[in-house]
Amino acid sequence: MPDTMELKKKIAELKKERNAVILAHNYERGEIQDIADFLGDSLELSQKAVELDADVIVFCGVHFMAESAAVLSPDKIVLLPEIDARCPMADMARVDSLRSLKQQHPDAAVICYVNTTAEIKAECDICCTSANAIEVVKSLEQRKIIFVPDKNLADYVARNTDKQIIPWVGYCPTHNQILPIDVQRAKNLHPMAEVLAHPECRREVLDMSDRIFSTTGMVNYIRTSGSNEFIIATESGLLHRLKKENPHKKFYEVSPYTMCPDMKMIDIKAVADSLENMKYVITVPEDIRIKAKQSLDRMLAIKRKR
Ligand code: 13P
Ligand code: SF4
Repeated sequence: MPDTMELKKKIAELKKERNAVILAHNYERGEIQDIADFLGDSLELSQKAVELDADVIVFCGVHFMAESAAVLSPDKIVLLPEIDARCPMADMARVDSLRSLKQQHPDAAVICYVNTTAEIKAECDICCTSANAIEVVKSLEQRKIIFVPDKNLADYVARNTDKQIIPWVGYCPTHNQILPIDVQRAKNLHPMAEVLAHPECRREVLDMSDRIFSTTGMVNYIRTSGSNEFIIATESGLLHRLKKENPHKKFYEVSPYTMCPDMKMIDIKAVADSLENMKYVITVPEDIRIKAKQSLDRMLAIKRKR
């Protein structure tokens, strides 16, 4: 079996041959973050998929992310190295149920978190990510908003805007299992640390945190913050990047259970295999792609603040 060095060499050669780039989410395994051409949060990765001059994108993340890249860049081949890497929260939203919710609230605008399938995006007016959810909601004329699928992000948005939010009852299993007792325990152990939380966490956890950010929002904040210690209430993969970029600062997981199994499915071997055998190609039926692209394009037209 080839060792890591050999696999890295093979990946570099295949990337050249195929004119490919590797995009990776901040939650990916450290070994994937280290070989990525670009590392980012969901919003940055969508922007990159549009801007990149490449024939092939190897998307190291979960299915909805690769699918968004395929929606935005139909001229590129988008590969997801592990086809079973999916977001359980994205799979909590169903098209038929969303259609009936829309019928019950015909005057509401419909926003979906990017953590949704292309089919769901095609049913919505606009997308958002954790980095821009408040700005996107504020940008809409309607007062009533159906927000799909994260109930925690919906609650966070409702508390930070004057809109009437009708939430879907989905959630991220990884973030939703973080409890106030975990935050309290981490604070007791590290009383000098600032607590940074992702808005997919429960309200009670957000209320105990010092600041709330998307993953790249945390990266940017920590870069310029005067604090030296941080408790990180999000998926544990982010700590690899934080430690690497800030070797003199200290980072603590909020609990030992903040790992998303889907975000850990892709390893170096899978990336080499993906590039060698051009798998798994992610495609979206054209009628759905066009409608989903409208929702993503409207979001991308709103400038990032954090
Ligand atoms: P970001 O919006 O920070 O990328 O995180 C969302 C997430 O959970 C990706 O699965
Ligand atoms: Fe989905 Fe949560 Fe995993 Fe992100 S961390 S892919 S939101 S289950």
